[in-house]
Order: sequence, then structure tokens, then C-alpha cells
Amino acid sequence: MNSRRLTNALNDAQAGLPITPAPALANAVRWIPAAERPIHRWFRYREGFSPALFDHLKTKGTRLDPFCGCGTTLVESARSGVRAYGIDVNPLATFITTTKTTPVNKRESVEFKRLTHQSLKSYRRFGPAQAPAFPLINKIFLPESLETLLRLRAFIDTVTSPRVRALLHLAWVSILEDCSNAFKEGNGLKYRNKRRRPGRYETVPDSTWIPKYFGISVRRFVENRWKEQCDAIASDLSDHPLPNSATTKVVTGSSLDARNLRFDEPASLAVFSPPYANRFDYFEAFKVELWMGGFVNAASELGVLRKTSMRSHLAAARGASDSTWSRLSPFLSAMDSSASSVRMGIKAALAGYFDDTRTLLRGLHAALAPRATVAVVVGNSAYARSIIPTDTLVARIGQEEGYDVERVLVARHLHVSSQQRAHLGSLDEYMRESVVVLKSRA
Ligand SMILES: C[S@@+](CC[C@H](N)C(=O)[O-])C[C@H]1O[C@@H](n2cnc3c(N)ncnc32)[C@H](O)[C@@H]1O
Repeated sequence: MNSRRLTNALNDAQAGLPITPAPALANAVRWIPAAERPIHRWFRYREGFSPALFDHLKTKGTRLDPFCGCGTTLVESARSGVRAYGIDVNPLATFITTTKTTPVNKRESVEFKRLTHQSLKSYRRFGPAQAPAFPLINKIFLPESLETLLRLRAFIDTVTSPRVRALLHLAWVSILEDCSNAFKEGNGLKYRNKRRRPGRYETVPDSTWIPKYFGISVRRFVENRWKEQCDAIASDLSDHPLPNSATTKVVTGSSLDARNLRFDEPASLAVFSPPYANRFDYFEAFKVELWMGGFVNAASELGVLRKTSMRSHLAAARGASDSTWSRLSPFLSAMDSSASSVRMGIKAALAGYFDDTRTLLRGLHAALAPRATVAVVVGNSAYARSIIPTDTLVARIGQEEGYDVERVLVARHLHVSSQQRAHLGSLDEYMRESVVVLKSRA
């Protein structure tokens, strides 16, 4: 398909939809502005949206976030005394959300502070705790970093108060990336000793990168990160406590399973950001925390989680539907069949992604209060010389599943990758991150 036909298909798909520029939302759809906010900063989760989103969604009724991630919706709701429910398939995400949103009493807060001081004085007399069966453990951690982390872990395991232990465990899980030999980038991990050179990677010798990154003592580096993280949590607990009336409930499971969408009180606002159709595999990106934190204990468990997640990446594929939805077809037909993404099965993954979106919106329609609002934060993507206008397609599925489209708020524009620019550069205006606002019809 040439670019004119793709442009026509993009225009046809969005014809009549209330697509509205909303630059004031540009920072609200990204996590970065949350990085320094109390409580949100307890775990770095770049895939989240910002608490600022709730400056634009000031509703009093019960909220549901069926892809709650690390809890932006639930923390902000708890802070303003609004009841909120969350669901996520990733047990790491639900542990983080639960730990952030369970109110802490004064005694627990003091105990947390006392134990973080105590841990630094005495952790070397403990453990090390048993290392998990994580296959990459010795590649991801230097021996000294691993030993220090496992001794701290042994100390945490002796703490009797479940609430304080959970806070310490969260602090520990959240420093793993910094204390490791790799960092999250793109759809996975990149090793700190690899330097990108034109067309290849160069390995930097240990004698150069280790002191440069960790300083003169790896153990001290880990201790300092632990202290910083615990201090940040302690200061948020004392300066920004959540009200004791905070009512949140978090479920670990798939929101595509309608049984997980039922709560005591039907929500009047569902607000969420599903995984984008960008092949990002959350279980790959968070595998260090999942294994080390004890959230998975075998490769087969990780495999099950991948397959239960929304079909936004190739490892989640679980059988394509028999026929492709007619509104998606033009964008799949426009793809260059020789592109590697097509050979790897991106068309089936995208068909699955929109099938899952339909399953979710159908389930929500049945589970939410009458005339509920659904706000979906999504980003469009580009593959194999075609554009997938996810915002438009989510709005169209909404219409087919019993919702009116109130607005498609375009928060910001994205760019196609440098490889795609030659073919799609003129279509940049369709690459955007938007908030699709639906209202369920009675
Ligand atoms: C973009 S993130 C959400 C981030 C969240 N808004 C926040 O601010 O922390 C998408 C989340 O969807 C979750 N997810 C993927 N498939 C799911 C499914 N079938 N059911 C529930 N959650 C799922 C992922 O684990 C991930 O945490």
C-alpha cells in the first residue's frame, strides 16, 4: 500500500471521532514526572502514567484500574480518599501497589526507620539468604553485590511485622537494578560493560567499568543505595502518609478474565493504560525483580505469566482469531511482508491485541456502574511501513461494545523510528499518545 492509501485508511478510521488536541496532558501520560513524587518514587516504573493525570480526572466515585502496574491510580485515589480497585497480571506489580497503598500506622513507621538503621549495622552477621534459581544470576550480579544483597535479604526475612517486612522487601527489590550489571533499556536488559559502536557492541574491561560505576567498593555502593531507598520511604511515610480511610483492593490476575472485574461496589470510572502494542514484554524487562524477589521460582511460571498477559508482544501469542477485524485489516495489509516484524508474527500479535481490547471493554461494560466513564491511555505504533492507530481503534471497539466516544484527547505526538522515517515521516501526525474517553451506554 502506498502512503496515500495508508493516509486514506487512517483518515477513514478516525472519521467522525472527536479527536481533540490536549497538550496539557502531555506530562500526564508519562511516568517521568512521577519519579520524584512521594510514594510513587518507591519503585522506578517507566511504563506508568503520571499522578498528574488525576488533576484532569477529578471524580469522587469508585475507580478501577485493570492494568494497575505499580499503582499510580490507586495511590492517587487513596490519597484523595476515593475507593479504588486494581488488577495486574504481574505479581511484582501487585506487590508494589499493595505495599504502597496499605496505610502504615505510627508504630510501624517508627519500626521501619529503626530497622533500616539496624540492618546496616548488623546485616553482615546474617545469611546470605538462599539465592533464587534465576538462571542469569551470576551474569547479572557481581559476587560482592549479590552477597551483600542476599545478606540484607536474610535480615529482612527475620522481621516479624508483615507490614514492615513488606516495606523493606519493596526497598530491596527496588535497588536490584542499580546494584546489578545491567539496566532496563528498550525491551530488555543491557549490560553495563557493553558500549555501542557503529554496527557492533564493544566489551569494556571489568577493571574500567566496575570502578567507574560502583566506585571503590561494590559493597559500599549497595549499602548506600539501600540506605537512600529506605530513607526515601521513611521520609514519605512520615511526611506524606496516606489517610487511614484509604480503601484500595488489589487483585493479581488477568483483567481479560471477567471474574476478576467484579468488586463489592461497581466502579464509575475505569482508568488505565494497557500495555501498548509495541512488543514490550513486561516479564522480560522485570525478570531480575521477579526472580530475585521470589515472585517466580521456575522458568515455567514465567512462561505462564507471559501467556496470560495481554497480547502486546510476541511471547504472549495464544492463537490468532479466525478472522481479522475489518477495521484493523487495512493497517495489516499495508505492512511490508518482507519486514522482520512481519516474519516474526506481528500481524497475529496485533490481531490478538485488539481481540483482547474488545474482551476487556466488553467485560468492563458488564462490570462497571451504569453510565460509567472509561479513560484509556494508549500510544500508536508503526511496523513494517504501516501505522497502527491504536487510539482510533480503541475508540471504534468502544463504539461496537456499547460505549459513546466522548473524546480522543491527543496528549502528545510520537515519532516513527529512524528506520521507518523514510516511508512514514509524512504521517507523523498519526503517531500519538492519547487518552480515549468512553461513556458506557445504558
Ligand atoms: C502500561 S502498564 C500500566 C502502568 C500503570 N498505569 C502505572 O501507572 O503504574 C501495563 C500493565 O498491564 C499489565 N498487564 C498486562 N497484561 C495484563 C492482563 N491480561 N491483565 C492485567 N494486567 C495486565 C502489565 O503487567 C503492566 O503492569
